[in-house]
Amino acid sequence: MADMRSSIVLTVFSTASGIGKTFLAINIAAELARLNHSVCLLDLDLQFGDVCNYLRLTPTRTIFDAQAALERPLEKFRAEDFLLTYARGRTSFQVMAPPSALLESYNIQATTIERLVTALNHFDFIVFDTPKIFSELSLTVLDVSTIITFLCVADFVPAIKNLKTGFDTLHRFNYEDNKIRLVQNRSDSQKLILTTDVETVLGRQFYYNLPNDFAAARRSIERGCPLVLEENSTALSESLRELVARYINRNSSAAVEPERPTGGIFSWIKGIFGGRS
Ligand SMILES: Nc1ncnc2c1ncn2[C@@H]1O[C@H](COP(=O)(O)OP(=O)(O)OP(=O)(O)O)[C@@H](O)[C@H]1O
Ligand SMILES: [Mg+2]
Repeated sequence: MADMRSSIVLTVFSTASGIGKTFLAINIAAELARLNHSVCLLDLDLQFGDVCNYLRLTPTRTIFDAQAALERPLEKFRAEDFLLTYARGRTSFQVMAPPSALLESYNIQATTIERLVTALNHFDFIVFDTPKIFSELSLTVLDVSTIITFLCVADFVPAIKNLKTGFDTLHRFNYEDNKIRLVQNRSDSQKLILTTDVETVLGRQFYYNLPNDFAAARRSIERGCPLVLEENSTALSESLRELVARYINRNSSAAVEPERPTGGIFSWIKGIFGGRS
């Protein structure tokens, strides 16, 4: 009989590219692990995922292998066979790599995401990094998420148009307001577009602002070490830690609770993307 416990599912999503989704997902996972939570980070950027590159991990098994194993009864699924361990000092967390071949990515089914969330429910937290597209698969991820971090960078008008389309689309799913957290990355970088103008366009104030620190972000990726695990703290690493603390602080009204997702978009997306019944 499967364990009925549920993980808290934190997803980083955006409809803009190159804005720090992967960087943030990795740091959320690392910070949760640093705080002694058990964490599994899944790279769902199935075609061009960067999680393993950023963490200097060499995939041996991937989500493609896990999907095949999930065809068998769940009791036979051994999660550790499909996960890579990232370790730094006393902190460690697990990573599921995207398919190694581009063609394999087309075969990853949305139902695999639901099965994985069940099969990995012994983790305190599951963190998803995602690509910038709405697809049956990414919509399933959003549906099973406890919190969706919708990440923005206010630097480029076409990107803001895409963010607006994405944010409006998310609201059509009628999730609880608390489920979607609008986060601005590189908030203090020099830019021609005002934060307040972006908030007006999106119709919501930013829940949190992460500072710009190109050197620190680049250094952390070059070293394969999440910024929150580096010894020397920076304004950016402190902000990343504070964001995670907000997400898990149980004294806060904005804190997450480990509950089953209630959103009901899966039937809605079937109509749009022709999902399987
Ligand atoms: N707060 C920040 N300050 C400065 N640079 C940052 C910050 N956050 C992320 N970056 C840098 O932005 C670049 C893009 O980050 P990342 O790969 O995480 O973006 P992404 O949204 O996942 O991109 P893609 O759409 O290709 O998946 C990286 O070089 C990273 O170092
Ligand atoms: Mg990415």
